[in-house]
Amino acid sequence: MVAVVGGGQLARMMAPAAAELGVHLRVLVEDPTTAAAQVVVDAPVGAASDEEAIRALVTPGGASPGADVLTFEHEHVPNALLAALVDEGTPVRPGPAALVQAQDKIVMRRRLTELGIPCPRWAALPSDPDQARAALTEFLRATPGGEAVVKTARGGYDGKGVRVVAEATAADDWIDAHLAGGPELLVEDKVPFTRELAVLVARRPSGEVRTWPVVESVQRDGVCAEVIAPAPGLAPELAEQARAVAVQVAEGLDVTGVLAVEMFEVPERDGRGSGPAVLVNELAMRPHNSGHWTIDGAVTSQFEQHLRAVLDLPLGGTAPTARWTVMANVLGSTLERLTDALPELGARFPEARVNLYGKGVRPGRKLGHVNVSGEDLDEVRRRAVAAAALLRGESIEES
Ligand SMILES: Nc1ncnc2c1ncn2[C@@H]1O[C@H](COP(=O)(O)OP(=O)(O)O)[C@@H](O)[C@H]1O
Ligand SMILES: [Mg+2]
Repeated sequence: MVAVVGGGQLARMMAPAAAELGVHLRVLVEDPTTAAAQVVVDAPVGAASDEEAIRALVTPGGASPGADVLTFEHEHVPNALLAALVDEGTPVRPGPAALVQAQDKIVMRRRLTELGIPCPRWAALPSDPDQARAALTEFLRATPGGEAVVKTARGGYDGKGVRVVAEATAADDWIDAHLAGGPELLVEDKVPFTRELAVLVARRPSGEVRTWPVVESVQRDGVCAEVIAPAPGLAPELAEQARAVAVQVAEGLDVTGVLAVEMFEVPERDGRGSGPAVLVNELAMRPHNSGHWTIDGAVTSQFEQHLRAVLDLPLGGTAPTARWTVMANVLGSTLERLTDALPELGARFPEARVNLYGKGVRPGRKLGHVNVSGEDLDEVRRRAVAAAALLRGESIEES
């Protein structure tokens, strides 16, 4: 039995993979209507921060089987509790020492810097507001483009804890909020990247590691809108470098399960003719939006691989099954029920692989995605984006 904390779409998409592997999945869901609760039979309700609920998830008692392993679909689980469970003999994968690197961007930057992993120039801001403003002003003075990116160390997602600033006062509210118990802050150079890449890697406790091809992720307003697999026109040496960096992170941080490494592709590492390079942006220790293409475009999906990895089973192949796969996210919709779009979508894009998460519609919310695979990238991309547009309730011209 695999116990999963978190009832969103990532846990939901583990369900078909668990069914295929014959693995019993038990998911701790926030309430009985979440994306995962709709499809997972064994879905107790409770908060990720609730010790009782986590303990009951792992050891339900009665005739129910205990968990072979505890894993996650998000990083927001109290670390002390996980450490206690490990001490008591429950396998927790990824383990708490690894997971903290994905919970806190300052801890992550510090560790990656120690490991010699290429990152943007960064600094943690002091907790005293005046010192924080002074440090930010100082940092901005040294940044090449005159702009920097301030981030909350914890709790951010989909660009919500990220702000581009040109002067220290632009972060005043966050700096003040920190003193009132808000998250710590860090600042980074605003990287003049050519595009954003991601490498998905899986690692099992016995050490086996596999990466999927490097993908390009297209972000809009800090949110992933499209993923192109593999990243078009990526120099083979750079692809090799990106995959090596991801493996180095997985091994250096002792990650088990699936790890997504978000990266920036930059034209120059050092501005002295060294050529293109990658810098690591952030880490997610779980299946990730940049890997949804693997459900339909790779031999083994990230969801199946995550289950295999946390169960310490041999990892599945990661080769793509098509020349190109494009994933387009459905972000918000004017439709009340996305399924109303299926007749037209199915008729116009029979090759499109639709995945809807069963979530209520809210502006900009990730409600589902579409994968399209094929030989001609422009065509594949156009059709994936058009199919996703139908699910957003837009009318489109031609197929
Ligand atoms: N140092 C940076 N330079 C330029 N853009 C950045 C930088 N950091 C983040 N961004 C942009 O903001 C997006 C979200 O930032 P990220 O740190 O990944 O936060 P989140 O946890 O919200 O995903 C990134 O995908 C990228 O587009
Ligand atoms: Mg991110």
